[in-house]
This record gives sequence, C-alpha cells and structure tokens, in this order.
Amino acid sequence: MPYVDWSDEFSVGLEEIDAQHHILVDCLNRLHDAVHERKSESEIVSVLGTLGDYTRIHFAVEEALMRVFEYKDYVPHKAEHEKLLAQFAEKAEKCHSGKVSANLELLQFLRSWLTDHIIHGDKKYAPMFLSRGMKAAATGERQRKGWFSRLWH
Ligand SMILES: [Fe+2]
Ligand SMILES: [Fe+2]
Repeated sequence: MPYVDWSDEFSVGLEEIDAQHHILVDCLNRLHDAVHERKSESEIVSVLGTLGDYTRIHFAVEEALMRVFEYKDYVPHKAEHEKLLAQFAEKAEKCHSGKVSANLELLQFLRSWLTDHIIHGDKKYAPMFLSRGMKAAATGERQRKGWFSRLWH
C-alpha cells in the first residue's frame, strides 16, 4: 500500500494536471520508502530534491495556463505556490544541512502540503480550464503517461 494512495478525491478532472499530480504523489511515496527503508541521508536528500524540482516545474505550468486563460485568481494562487515553495525549501534545507533527518513528521507535513493544495486550491481553476478546452481526465484511470512523467523516469 503506498503512503499516499491516489484516489478520485485528488482528481481535478484534467488529464494533464492529474498526470502531473500523480508524479508528485509518486515522488512523495518514494521519499516515504527511502525513509522507511533507512536509506542514506544523501539518497533521501536526492529524492527530496526530485520532489522539489517536479513541484517547481508543475507550478510553473499551472501558472502559465492561468495567465493564458486569464484566470481571475491567478495572483492569490501564485502567491500560494510561492508560500508552499518557501515552506518546502525550509524543510529541505534542514534535511540538507543535517539539522533534522527526514522522518514521519516531515512526511506528514509534505502529505498535507501537497494534497491540501490539490483539493482546496487546484480544484478551483479546473472548471474554467475545462471550459477553455483542456482535455478532461478519464475517470478512475491513472494518468501518468504525459510528457511530464518522462522527465525523470
Ligand atoms: Fe497542482
Ligand atoms: Fe496550484
């Protein structure tokens, strides 16, 4: 059973965005496995780095789409992304500098850090993106075949 099991609750109803969110969930699950299997600190920092890299690219994609579609809440959504990146950077820096090791508390933080934003933030723009012609997600399917998944896999 993965640490975060994808469910329809996480789907925003857009194929490409769901595919990107799947990758972020997979990264978090990989981080969980690395911590659980007591992998070396450098391996854990590396998985954490991948999660950070994916997140930055994903946020940039969302923000570009919001600008193209002239989404009315672009500014607060971008501000929320910046807050999330700052929180992530603070946690990652502590792990990187060895001040704290990656542990259950960090994983729990990252789980709500990721899923709360998908459920309470991203779902708000989805109907507008759909109305502008973005491809809808097929319900119940795991979407992980987009270009985004090929960056690191
Ligand atoms: Fe997102
Ligand atoms: Fe977002």
